[in-house]
Amino acid sequence: MSDDSPEVFESVSHENRTFPPDATFAEHARIASMEAYEAEYRRSLADPEAYWAEVAENLKWYRRWDRVLNEEEKPFFKWFEGAQTNLAANCLDRNLENGNRNKAALLWEGEPGDDRVLTYFDLYREVNRCANALRQLGIGKGDRVALYLPMIPELAIATLACARIGAIHTVIFAGFSANSIRDRVLDCEARCVITSDGGWRRGQVLGLKDIVDEALDGVESVSEVVVVQRGRPEPFPCTMREGRDHWYHEIVRSQPIHCEPERLDAEDMLFLLYTSGTTGKPKGIIHTQAGYMVYAYQTTKYIFDLQPEDVYWCTADIGWITGHTYILYGPLLNGATAVMYEGAPNAPDNGRFWDIVQKYGVSIFYTAPTAIRAFMKWGDHWPNGYDLSTLRLLGTVGEPINPEAWMWYHEVIGKSRCPIVDTWWQTETGGVLISPLPGATPTKPGSATRPFFGVDAAILNEEGGEERAGILAIRKPWPGILRGIYGDPQRFKDTYWCKWGGAYYFPGDGARIDEDSYVWILGRVDDVVNVSGHRIGTAELESVFIENTKVAESAVIGVPHEIKGQGLVAFVTLKEGVEATDELNRELREMVASDIGKFALPERILFSSDLPKTRSGKIMRRLLRDIAEGKELGNVTTLADPSIVEELQQKYWAK
Ligand code: PRX
Repeated sequence: MSDDSPEVFESVSHENRTFPPDATFAEHARIASMEAYEAEYRRSLADPEAYWAEVAENLKWYRRWDRVLNEEEKPFFKWFEGAQTNLAANCLDRNLENGNRNKAALLWEGEPGDDRVLTYFDLYREVNRCANALRQLGIGKGDRVALYLPMIPELAIATLACARIGAIHTVIFAGFSANSIRDRVLDCEARCVITSDGGWRRGQVLGLKDIVDEALDGVESVSEVVVVQRGRPEPFPCTMREGRDHWYHEIVRSQPIHCEPERLDAEDMLFLLYTSGTTGKPKGIIHTQAGYMVYAYQTTKYIFDLQPEDVYWCTADIGWITGHTYILYGPLLNGATAVMYEGAPNAPDNGRFWDIVQKYGVSIFYTAPTAIRAFMKWGDHWPNGYDLSTLRLLGTVGEPINPEAWMWYHEVIGKSRCPIVDTWWQTETGGVLISPLPGATPTKPGSATRPFFGVDAAILNEEGGEERAGILAIRKPWPGILRGIYGDPQRFKDTYWCKWGGAYYFPGDGARIDEDSYVWILGRVDDVVNVSGHRIGTAELESVFIENTKVAESAVIGVPHEIKGQGLVAFVTLKEGVEATDELNRELREMVASDIGKFALPERILFSSDLPKTRSGKIMRRLLRDIAEGKELGNVTTLADPSIVEELQQKYWAK
């Protein structure tokens, strides 16, 4: 942690309420007591290779592994070396063989109220037709395919189709701007982009194909664009470019319903998912076949205590890692029935999520603290107006949950009966690393509790000594760990493996551990901000501002936000003679929207004559955070220009 990073030690929570698992729930749970958890946890750490090999036995392999874990080229770990498999075949063919052929795999709900049920056989057929169509376009193993789609069944289908033919998918959240798509497509040299004419968002149509056209202007690697027609019966207005663009329904229609899955090596790339780091350039996180599959399978099974009759709903978007692992792969690997919803929680009104729970009889519901806080604000009468009695388990992910929101979730949604799993993990970890097991772990509001099987977590100081509060570190590799950053092995080593001499994985989060060995995540210790669960690097915004010729310098910080968890505040200094106007403020906001996406818009942009710096010229972001939080600032005389602090305080707090 640099002296400029957020002060994790101060925000130690004093929450000490404990909620034992509901007895009825525990009666049928896979892991039904803390003793059972402890015993299995000890076993998994004593011999992780034996543990993960045993888990892998549940899945389908064309060739078995020669070795479970190879650490020789650490941190480039190899799991299940020598094995061959196919993730899509494990999600689909394996379920046809397991008696789930006619079971619902996806219960899809469109924002305007249209719906569609896909059984495992339906999904198998659709994925295979799409996979055959992609092969016919010349797409195959190792090719990168970017997906920019709303949450419609074709997003799940096309993602699985890529996995089936060994193409590497990179899903780009449909809230990203054209520039963000372009950066990602260029970085991975995608050959194909799959998009749609448009998508629904709060009753409006978003023209996705137009955004893709703008993004691909001048991009040479992309030879094929496949367009799903979401507009029914007529497509939403968009233009199709001769020779490059294909309507999805036209190329898929006459394809055979079987498609031989590609036999992929355990460490072949499965997908890239771009995420923000501490520099202006997002990182293409690499996940590979076998380890990711085994980890997604096992975490979904135990953390959500999946039972055959469950209706499971994760409200994330497939554009983020949560959607990859816990909408798509984890549930399908377990033969679950998963709900997928296209739209916003407040379309057409604030009761939409509860209406969906009631309509489908959702039993497991997994969402983010930011959504929970919005529901709290909208009022209890919304959930109370629906029948939520089918719910048996609740989950949260993406950011620390404040105890008040946890209690509301527990009482108003869970009727004090449903366990809550607060799951801590990251794009890089592939699946959940720290979480309660719902039938076993007594929960405490705001704590992610204990590590999952095979996960060896520690809280360390800068030097690597164990602490009660400090930086979260993971000692042993687990199968779902990222295998690299696309095209940048050095950045991979520097970002995750440099601290503590390569002995631990460094996730970038602060945490504390309590007397029951429960982990409390305290937020990021680097310059990454979590806005409504979306990870945004402050450097990304700063590099947008600096592109404006009127801007001399900027510093962006995260500040507490009632609903979003954190919001962004930008401090901007202008070049000599440039005036700070509302118009310039608007101009900068538009730049953020078009360079990144609207979700990254700052709450405020403050113009100032300078920024607080050390004498060596380093911007003191920490001081800016203290100003924004109204804290006592202490001694600022070591700054290059101490008077700037007063100016900033006045401006920040001026009404
Ligand atoms: O800071 C942690 C926070 O989200 C970060 C990871 O963001 P991302 O890669 O976008 O993945 C989000 C979904 C897995 C983490 O470094 N975070 C995630 N889950 C929690 C959390 N913070 C506290 N509690 C959580 N349950």
